[in-house]
Amino acid sequence: MKVRTLLLLTTAAMMAAACSQTKQMDKEELLSQMSIEDKAHLAIGTGMAGLGNTNSPTIGATKKLVPGAAGTTYPLDSLGIPSIVLSDGPAGLRIDPKREGDKNTYYCTHFPIGTLLASTWDQQLVEEVGKAIGNEVKEYGADVLLAPGMNIHRNPLNGRNFEYYSEDPVVAGLTAAAYVNGVQSNGVGTSVKHFFGNNQETNRINNDAHISQRAIREIYLKPFEIAIKKSNPWTVMTSYNHVNGKYTSEDKELLQTILRDEWGYKGMVMTDWLGGFDAAQQMRAGNDMLQPGKAGQFESIVKALSDGSLKMEDMDRNIGRILDLIQKTPKWAGYKYSNKPDLKAHAKITRQSATEGMVLLENKQNTLPLDKNIKNVGIYGCTSYQFIAGGTGSGNVNHAYVVSLLDGFKNAGYNYDADLQKKYEDYIKVSAEKYEADMKAMEKKDPGKYMLARFLPTPLPAEMTIDEAKIKADAQKQDVAVITFGRLSGEFVDRFTNDFELSSAEKDLLNKVCEAYHAVGKKVVVLLNIGGVIETASWKNQPDAILCAWQAGQEGGNSVVDVLSGKANPSGKLTMTWPVKYTDVYSSKNFPVDQAANLKFVADGKVHRDVKNVDYTDYEEDIYVGYRYFDSFNVPVSYPFGYGLSYTNFEYSNAKVSQKGDEYNVSVEIKNTGKTAGKEVVELYVAAPNSKENNKPVKELKAYAKTALLNAGEKAVVTLTVKASDLASYDEDNSQWKVDEGEYQFLVAASSRDIKATLSAKVEGAVEKVNDVLKPNVKLNLLRR
Ligand code: BGC
Repeated sequence: MKVRTLLLLTTAAMMAAACSQTKQMDKEELLSQMSIEDKAHLAIGTGMAGLGNTNSPTIGATKKLVPGAAGTTYPLDSLGIPSIVLSDGPAGLRIDPKREGDKNTYYCTHFPIGTLLASTWDQQLVEEVGKAIGNEVKEYGADVLLAPGMNIHRNPLNGRNFEYYSEDPVVAGLTAAAYVNGVQSNGVGTSVKHFFGNNQETNRINNDAHISQRAIREIYLKPFEIAIKKSNPWTVMTSYNHVNGKYTSEDKELLQTILRDEWGYKGMVMTDWLGGFDAAQQMRAGNDMLQPGKAGQFESIVKALSDGSLKMEDMDRNIGRILDLIQKTPKWAGYKYSNKPDLKAHAKITRQSATEGMVLLENKQNTLPLDKNIKNVGIYGCTSYQFIAGGTGSGNVNHAYVVSLLDGFKNAGYNYDADLQKKYEDYIKVSAEKYEADMKAMEKKDPGKYMLARFLPTPLPAEMTIDEAKIKADAQKQDVAVITFGRLSGEFVDRFTNDFELSSAEKDLLNKVCEAYHAVGKKVVVLLNIGGVIETASWKNQPDAILCAWQAGQEGGNSVVDVLSGKANPSGKLTMTWPVKYTDVYSSKNFPVDQAANLKFVADGKVHRDVKNVDYTDYEEDIYVGYRYFDSFNVPVSYPFGYGLSYTNFEYSNAKVSQKGDEYNVSVEIKNTGKTAGKEVVELYVAAPNSKENNKPVKELKAYAKTALLNAGEKAVVTLTVKASDLASYDEDNSQWKVDEGEYQFLVAASSRDIKATLSAKVEGAVEKVNDVLKPNVKLNLLRR
């Protein structure tokens, strides 16, 4: 009783303090005033409407604060601790656009997907996009953005690759760091996710990723390590899956030994939504907060604290980190948000930034940019009329509009065929109505299946068939043909192999259009409006140009036409390898390929060993992910990592390497030798001595930069820096990072298979001891060179 009175008095004092400018939080004092129950509450989110679980009577709390946000922290009113708002996601803030009884709208800008941002290879641009996203977070009253997603593209079929950045840890880490720095410059937080090993969607909640300690260190943890050290994200989100037998959110070796002790991270760790199983163990491990809160967690923590199986000092450590987070937020500062971010200004940012991440894959005889005389465009492919802004699930954004390719052409003053437009729009409408009717029938027949289907990406309409005579007639009238192929994927489910291939209807359309237009000397451009890699080797020679536009956000059609018309010169490069065949990817042996029947949603806390690649996945490719595999084992590819064309050409000259202390500086002169202004991405790979004998990749990307816009004839010197410690590999036998002594090659390149200059420098040997943790729980049959 006495304690409570004191507490209320202190609370009053705190409230008063809250109104003053400084508003300091006395963490120790607050901790001393909290009951066991207060602590358990604060460690758990406010629940998720519709899931029937509770963390006391707070379900629906998020809806009251910012409707559509993913979650909120538990308010402890008596202690003056407010609820802070956590909201997705990587391509922009995801909140409800409309509110009951409110005429205003709350749309957010749909920025380009993560893969496109990474494909810009431009950290400054990513930071600018992050700044704009963070501004919407702040102005809509949220405190922490649940982004960036930065898992490695281990396999092209991961349904969430679109949210992620690359198959390479340096690209993923530096892109994430730039994004975090941009968002957080607004005084709001981020959550780097999903930490780690969530490289497939199938059974993500129970899958046990079996990964060698070396691949963990060099490939899967590396991007997080880079981002954390370079940008200090306010929070980290653990992944759903197990790694080597333990849920990441329950693993002290990961969350304390590596994240805190080795990397020095001081921020807060939260679970992915409903992630993990044993709440008390999550607390012990240092997964500070459980989101969004589910049945049994509160009781489990209170019991463990009461019987001593969870130490109070561990709980206080977690609560302390939660309080540190709250203290940094706009909510704590009482920020009066406007609910009116400058959506017009942000639309400009997304339109321009998207053009910089588009990758020109083919451009025979300078088909692109379109000749100034071209005015009439034959626009084919359903997706041209229904452009895809981004992927589905928590990576989606509730945007006000999406500019289609058709709209983009119209806005730029091109002519189009209204008859073709009507055909496509009618067909899309009928397909959508049929889908809805099927869903209604499913809802009646099988409500469970229906609920699941609603979670998954809505299938795109099968490509429409157009008869040959119509296409031939078009070819006479139009100056050029543009065909869009689209792909949509998202959370909960991986892509299927038939999503990787062109369908027979798509191939048929491509054949007919190429035949008809080429017969009359006109060109065909293929546009890829996709979130992940597709097969190209079998058809890429047919059209005259191919532009990978990715999913470019709400201004997509405008951005694409800016590139097609030459208003913008594409300067994106691929951040992942495009294989000839899907089965060329080494991890395809160990990936849940076409496992639709094995969608599982419930975690039972147990480690299963039943169904390969569903219950467990052996990462047998080890460190040979992406180009590290293709280039070390000389496997042909359709497009290599780091590849992308421009409307101009660049000459690399005068490459030099110099050493200063433990740093190697590589400089190279880049000259625009073409006629159009453009930017070039310069890549620096390093090849270790005796890489084959030492079982290392033939080369690894260590640094990159993009030039400023260079006018025709203009030159720039690009300097890239690599630290000796960046050259270390992980030595499992001795639990250490080890730099082998010897002569290293520094490869200045335009892609992983286009080396422009080979330099060499001597590097001294060095080791750095770390902890022998996260050991595999099974024997793995690892690929070696
Ligand atoms: C996703 C997270 C997301 C969270 C909250 C989960 O399903 O995996 O990436 O942040 O939901 O919406």
